[in-house]
Amino acid sequence: MDNIVRRIGILTSGGDAPGMNAAIRAAVRNCLQHNITPIGIHRGYNGLIQGDTFEMDARSVNNLSERGGTILYTARCKEFTTPEGVQQAVRTCKYAGIDGVIAIGGDGTFRGAQKLSAAGVNTVGVPATIDNDIGCSHYTIGFDTAANTAIQCIDKLSDTMQSHERASVVEVMGRHAGHLAVYVGLAVGATAILVPEFPVDFERDVIERIRQGKYRGKRHFLIIVAEGVGRCDEIARRIEEETGIDARVSILGHIQRGGAPSGRDRTMAARMGHTAVEELALGHTNLVVCYRDSHIVTIPIDEALAMKKGLDPYMYKVAYDISI
Ligand code: F6P
Repeated sequence: MDNIVRRIGILTSGGDAPGMNAAIRAAVRNCLQHNITPIGIHRGYNGLIQGDTFEMDARSVNNLSERGGTILYTARCKEFTTPEGVQQAVRTCKYAGIDGVIAIGGDGTFRGAQKLSAAGVNTVGVPATIDNDIGCSHYTIGFDTAANTAIQCIDKLSDTMQSHERASVVEVMGRHAGHLAVYVGLAVGATAILVPEFPVDFERDVIERIRQGKYRGKRHFLIIVAEGVGRCDEIARRIEEETGIDARVSILGHIQRGGAPSGRDRTMAARMGHTAVEELALGHTNLVVCYRDSHIVTIPIDEALAMKKGLDPYMYKVAYDISI
């Protein structure tokens, strides 16, 4: 067998993120530069198991960078966690002549990519999740757009909450990670930011901060809560009871995952999607494309999955020091 890559499959998996389409476009177009046929795979690893694949060309990704969501659809695939599921995916690759796969998504997507590589299909991962919680990469596609969406929503909320001198308890996405909450909280001037990574002393970190702010003449209080912390109703109730300030809850939800990607997400996605093809064209496998210290690099998936990314405590401190 020669080492020449002829057909590269592209899939998106896990929660969608703005910029996934821009990564697909870059991958498709760079495949064509290498005389490689790009193959779209629908619904993540499900499409590989079910043989739901189709040939793409330069025009099938026209005007795609600016579109949110993913034209390939996305899903989480339980079946792919079993050896039978992986073997079925390998059979699809053989049948469809796919000799490389680009898997765009988060940690779960990379665990799938690791299995596919181990089963003999060259695979490269591209990090895309609004949570920005991939240990190996300082940035993940979708984070900037999601943060800006949340910030715009909260700015609107602040207008009405300020008029009524209320407290807003706002839940942003992030079941296991508080990166979005801390970034958004700093940007909107939150009085308190609650994240799953840091334990909170509710009395000290929320109630007392509101009381002190009120004493200093502050009339509106924003409490940003990462989804993983939950209990927004309970938080609002306690604020009302213990400070006498009227409080309202807003859950931003999936609106944060939609919309046209920002310039940062489009360019990051283009660079990462392009790099994934470069690596596969060289016959490389079991890699994740990462953004580290202002450069796009690749790291073996096994190493990448072992890396952890903590919250930036300095960012948290800045948010607290200046929202008085
Ligand atoms: O991982 C991205 C994410 O948006 C998380 O922030 C959130 O907890 C989760 O996905 C929601 O998943 P689903 O769309 O399946 O409800």
